Amino acid sequence: MSDKSAKLVLPNGEELDLAVYSPTEGNDVIDVSQLVKNGYFTYDPGFMSTASCESKITYIDGGKGILLYRGFPIEQLAQSCDFMEVSYLLLNGDLPNVEQKKAFVDRINNHTMVHEQLAMFFRGFRRDAHPMAIMVGVVGALSAFYHDSLDINNPIHREKSGFRLIAKVSTIAAMCYRYSKGHPFVFPRNEMSYAENFLHMMFSMPSSDSKPDPVLVKAMDRIFTLHADHEQNCSTSTVRLAGSSGANPFACIAAGIASLWGPAHGGANEACLKMLQEIGDVKNIPEYIARAKDKNDPFRLMGFGHRVYKNFDPRAKVMRESAHEVLKATGKQDDPILQVAMELEKIALEDPYFVEKKLYPNVDFYSGIILDAIGIPTNMFTVIFALARTVGWVSQWSEMISEPTQKIGRPRQLYTGLSERDVKPIEQR
Ligand code: SDX
Repeated sequence: MSDKSAKLVLPNGEELDLAVYSPTEGNDVIDVSQLVKNGYFTYDPGFMSTASCESKITYIDGGKGILLYRGFPIEQLAQSCDFMEVSYLLLNGDLPNVEQKKAFVDRINNHTMVHEQLAMFFRGFRRDAHPMAIMVGVVGALSAFYHDSLDINNPIHREKSGFRLIAKVSTIAAMCYRYSKGHPFVFPRNEMSYAENFLHMMFSMPSSDSKPDPVLVKAMDRIFTLHADHEQNCSTSTVRLAGSSGANPFACIAAGIASLWGPAHGGANEACLKMLQEIGDVKNIPEYIARAKDKNDPFRLMGFGHRVYKNFDPRAKVMRESAHEVLKATGKQDDPILQVAMELEKIALEDPYFVEKKLYPNVDFYSGIILDAIGIPTNMFTVIFALARTVGWVSQWSEMISEPTQKIGRPRQLYTGLSERDVKPIEQR
């Protein structure tokens, strides 16, 4: 697998030849796994320079602002495919034909309902509970209902659990919103597309037969596609690490949801809209830009910056176009929040601080504006992200579990605590 090597000279003068592996796209990797035998660990907090695994699913070129799902550019997928085709692609490696898509959608539709006992879990939460807290609990509890598909070494069980998760996460997400409003839960409809079904379960009322607006359905479907996967990000790495212990897929996805909740990660969309609302008017932008640059102020421009993208996040570009479409369709094109967002983006992209640090809008900068225009409350934004990312998490988890050489993930550390010492009797402490 490797015809290149890197030479490492250890402090004692010993020279090691480390294998170097070349990818299809991106950086070569240096295999450091033998170091422990020579009494060394690598040290890389935040994994800035660490490839944790080999994967064939998603590729990001941060410098060029490129995102590929199984080789297809995200811009083309967002333009030409729907979320079910993209889900099939991530899970199976290629886009489906008409028959394959129909069979896939039919299987998803067979699993969109949840056990009636699961619906009772919601009763234990306050109506104002954050929906991400409910998602972590309820998705994790799914494993209590599906003992027939928990043998992760059985590919049939893995596939069935994956379908159950992708299908039910949408129903559970909508139930979070309905419960918070005191509205009755709405059953899924198999004749609807995935995105249409989600908006139906979110907003339809027993007292009317109104259907979701097709423009909003298309925007929702595109948001799902743009959030579906993103290589080894924080929450995906969480899912892989949890899965490496052999934990069941429902527990692993619940761990991913918990990890995604952080404001530095999937929680940024909720934080970003709150920031735009707090800024409120374009005249206040300079004050917030100054705060974002002030090292003594923990404030960061939410929706800006990225560990990998040092250029425009390609998802942000597609999201920006969608934002204009949705606001026009909902008659909110003069929404001051959009004006603030566009002016903030313009100013930040011209400011030397952001230019020097290569801070560009990321996927979370415009998504909140679209979700807000669709009528989704701010505290549901990260739930939408988790809903969409579930297919990516399932794909990455399944790829890991199917890898014959996969081992439990167990990093080491740089220990700087105290060396061994003896316990004194309490009277002498
Ligand atoms: C997602 O990994 C993924 O792929 C994630 C994701 C996915 O699809 O899974 O793309 C989804 O999580 C997108 C990111 C959403 N988060 C936010 O929008 C929160 C705001 N952004 C930052 O917190 C930050 O940019 C991160 C967390 C996204 C990235 O942080 P890094 O890579 O650890 O970079 P860093 O914190 O070291 O920042 C580098 C410099 C620092 O200044 P110096 O210490 O070098 O002087 O840039 C500054 C930072 O202070 N900086 C910012 C900033 N982001 C970084 N300054 C102001 N505002 C910001 N938003």
